[in-house]
Amino acid sequence: MAPEIKSVAIIGAGAAGAVTAAAFKAENYYDRVKVFERRESAGGSWIYDADPRPHPPLQPGKLAEDVDPPLKIPDLDLRVPKAVPPNQQERYSQTPVYNNLTTNVPHIAMSFSDRTFAYGPFPPHYIPRQYIEDYFSHHETDRFLSLNTTVEDVSKIPPTEKGGQERWKLTLRKYDPLRHIDLWWEESFDAVIIATGHYSVPYIPYVKGLEEYVQKYPGRVIHSKPYRSPHIYTSKRVLVIGNQASGHDISNELVTTARLPVNQSRRSPGLWDGDFPPAGIEWKPVVEEYIASTGRILFSDGTYLDDIDTVIYCTGYQVSFPFWNAAHNGRELWDPKDKKLIKGYWHTFFQDFKNLAIIGLPRTLTFRSFEYQAIALSRLWSGRNKVDLPRLEQQEKWERDRLESKKREGKRFHDIPWDDGETFAWLEGLFEIAGLGTLKGDGMIPPVLGKEVVWAIEHLRKYPRPERGKDGTMAGDVEGADEDKDWVLVEKTKKDSLAFI
Ligand SMILES: Cc1cc2nc3c(=O)[nH]c(=O)nc-3n(C[C@H](O)[C@H](O)[C@H](O)COP(=O)(O)OP(=O)(O)OC[C@H]3O[C@@H](n4cnc5c(N)ncnc54)[C@H](O)[C@@H]3O)c2cc1C
Ligand SMILES: NC(=O)c1ccc[n+]([C@@H]2O[C@H](COP(=O)([O-])OP(=O)(O)OC[C@H]3O[C@@H](n4cnc5c(N)ncnc54)[C@H](OP(=O)(O)O)[C@@H]3O)[C@@H](O)[C@H]2O)c1
Repeated sequence: MAPEIKSVAIIGAGAAGAVTAAAFKAENYYDRVKVFERRESAGGSWIYDADPRPHPPLQPGKLAEDVDPPLKIPDLDLRVPKAVPPNQQERYSQTPVYNNLTTNVPHIAMSFSDRTFAYGPFPPHYIPRQYIEDYFSHHETDRFLSLNTTVEDVSKIPPTEKGGQERWKLTLRKYDPLRHIDLWWEESFDAVIIATGHYSVPYIPYVKGLEEYVQKYPGRVIHSKPYRSPHIYTSKRVLVIGNQASGHDISNELVTTARLPVNQSRRSPGLWDGDFPPAGIEWKPVVEEYIASTGRILFSDGTYLDDIDTVIYCTGYQVSFPFWNAAHNGRELWDPKDKKLIKGYWHTFFQDFKNLAIIGLPRTLTFRSFEYQAIALSRLWSGRNKVDLPRLEQQEKWERDRLESKKREGKRFHDIPWDDGETFAWLEGLFEIAGLGTLKGDGMIPPVLGKEVVWAIEHLRKYPRPERGKDGTMAGDVEGADEDKDWVLVEKTKKDSLAFI
């Protein structure tokens, strides 16, 4: 039997939290909806932190569970709020927004369907931030917000009677900036929605010698997260690692200030890479080893760099759910080896916890897909959905089959590509679950993904891309070429049009 859900906690007030709050309010069914946000305002990963405080030491190769462990909950009765000295442990709540960051998805495709960005197509970072804050006011869901409030623990509450349903206890910590104290307390809800984003905890790969190098040369190696402007790198010799959106933007900015060439280490050809690096950039392969004793950085082709002043790891982020009390809840939520939710369904629901959901996890169209997830969920939990979730065995099969096929293809479980139509199929599944609202107007209606939006995604590009043939190769696209041998044509990996998201 579906659980009766009347009170809902949403964790996070980024774009995902904003549209989820709107969908749950519009459903006009729930008694109590709250949005807990650890920052001082809504906006999520679009809030700009001009001066990111010093970050904790880099921990190469370490998983989120080690880098971002749960906070110790004070041993107090938290049924009423208790004040304790403020937390000192790193919570990764600052954002990676840098000064010149602009959006990279056309605004009509990026914004929610009922309201567009102030302007587009690729506005500066403060436009989506203002938009998210405004979205809360526009839907009058700003009153659901509890700001400066971190959800530090989510534990299930067993049913109080036979045949009753599980609920969730949230342990909350609110920083009071006036008194410089943390207030801790507990609240319980029928259901919880995780909308915490996945671009907070930096990922730094393990590389031989990197840990010793970091210790020997403090501050020389950073992650792209605290990068703000190329000016502090004026005349410096820089090595950038990675060539997706962050690596691409940062190396191109550095060309204007750093000592040339800016070195960029690439593991695979990027979406915007042609056959040759742009002026001022020199491409290197992956780093094989750091030699702390001399400062030398060795690459996989045997070349090396000495006297590098700064290494910037643009190697992305790790998913982290430090608030999930696995010991209490009977299992982990995230499988770091396969980089996937455990017992998830359709990247949104859980097979075993019917009153738990997650919005915003897949790498795909962002805001717009959160909207479909939020509407489907608000409808499902109000019992007004058009189509039910499939039976448990089918959900398990979905998870098994997807894991198998993604492993075979060498792709990530939660990446949903655009070019092969998977984004459409996924959104359509959510669209089907949601159906319409009521005749009286309760509930948001899932929007069409109309021709204009599709056209914008497929034709408006922030950066030009090199022309590729149907097979993904570029004109004159040769690798492994050797003057003494015949030319060998090696197909470059064809990356999805939205692979940069
Ligand atoms: C540098 C950068 C540039 C990007 N550019 C684009 C772009 O151009 N176009 C695009 O479509 N996407 C872009 N993205 C992706 C971007 O993250 C999404 O667009 C979108 O904003 C994600 O929204 P979200 O709500 O899922 O997550 P977030 O925006 O990360 O919001 C999650 C919120 O949850 C809060 N939170 C986390 N844990 C807790 C907790 N325990 N308790 C309380 N609150 C918590 C966080 O403080 C945050 O406010 C970019 C990402 C980065 C990092
Ligand atoms: N609006 C904008 O213009 C903008 C700017 C910056 C960031 N963003 C967004 O921010 C998010 C994060 O982007 P990101 O570029 O920081 O991270 P990312 O997309 O995860 O890219 C990580 C990069 O690191 C490389 N890498 C990962 N592991 C590595 C390893 N072990 N050794 C060597 N290289 C490794 C990857 O190489 P492979 O490609 O070979 O995997 C890739 O180039 C994305 O959503 C992106 O769209 C947007």
